[in-house]
Amino acid sequence: MIKLIKPYISYSDVESEFKEIFESGMFTRGKYVEQFATTLKEFTGAKYAFLASSATTALSVCLRILEIGQGDEVICSDFSFPASGNVIEDTGAKPVFADVSLETYNMLPAELEKKITSKTKAVILVDALGNPSGAHRILEICRSKNIPLIQDSACAIGSSENGIPVGNIADLTCFSFHPRKLLTTGEGGAITTNNAEYAEKLSIKLLHGAVMKNDMMDFVDYGYNYRLPDLQCVMGIKQFARLPEIVKERNEIREEYIAQLSPLGFIAQKTSPGTVHNVQSLVFRMPTGKFRPALTAYLKSKGIESTLGTYSLSATTYYANKYADIQKNGQTLQNETITLPCYRGVDVSFVCKTIQDWISND
Ligand SMILES: Cc1ncc(COP(=O)(O)O)c(C=O)c1O
Repeated sequence: MIKLIKPYISYSDVESEFKEIFESGMFTRGKYVEQFATTLKEFTGAKYAFLASSATTALSVCLRILEIGQGDEVICSDFSFPASGNVIEDTGAKPVFADVSLETYNMLPAELEKKITSKTKAVILVDALGNPSGAHRILEICRSKNIPLIQDSACAIGSSENGIPVGNIADLTCFSFHPRKLLTTGEGGAITTNNAEYAEKLSIKLLHGAVMKNDMMDFVDYGYNYRLPDLQCVMGIKQFARLPEIVKERNEIREEYIAQLSPLGFIAQKTSPGTVHNVQSLVFRMPTGKFRPALTAYLKSKGIESTLGTYSLSATTYYANKYADIQKNGQTLQNETITLPCYRGVDVSFVCKTIQDWISND
């Protein structure tokens, strides 16, 4: 099976540090946690970095420190994995889904402006499939309205806009280190911020609501354990050094696909000028009149993994039933996009030839 992605890490990369951790017994809150957070800070240029067990818990704790709850609204990009909206729903606030561009797949500034009300307490901008195009424009709107911007960069480690790395653009940025991402710790997540007040609140929330006082914890708030253990942090540290090379390589593979699939009518996800896209997922819109599920089934029968781009959150059964506010472009993208295998060594010509065969016989 040609998989969608292969991990950029092997056991030999971590073997000696794993041995050291097993021998020391320091499985959690050890030196590798510190090192991974520092590496993330240095890589993004953000002042503060915190690790978490996933992007979902990272996003969730960000909403908690902003004290978002019942009666509030949070505006969120419509085209994403449901976690982006679920964390809002979980606080008791209302997720308000904003429609996205059919080109970049990211939140449209005009849609955001239309949806802001006096109840809007935060905006979650999703870097769709790792693409941060338009993040600075969304930040500008949020700043003008004094609304905090959380960037859901679950897929976007290694991406940048206008020369500024993701992680150093919004007020709060959340990352995922799930195996479908370019940098994986098995499961894992992180938050970066430049805001000292947010950083202090995050450090307390992520330590069960405690601050250290002499030799004991003083529980000044309620909080959580969303920690990332040392073994997983070693995995993360090892991959950071390779990230720029991985991003370059994935963009080269993207160009190879575009050269072969454009003549067949496939349109690649676009980036705006000044954007470096990490190509976490390589996504195309289907040629007019061609049915994506039929192509994914055909590719599977030929040993090639593929899937949809991602979801229209407003069109998922739960949110459509509850809020009945389906976003048109988000739904179009959910129905008409396909993710194709992308990693070093993937036989691009074989995948494209298989797609061409399907087109010819469809
Ligand atoms: C945009 C987006 N946000 C959040 C998540 C959730 O990430 P995690 O699995 O680390 O909780 C994902 C997962 O794919 C995602 O794509």
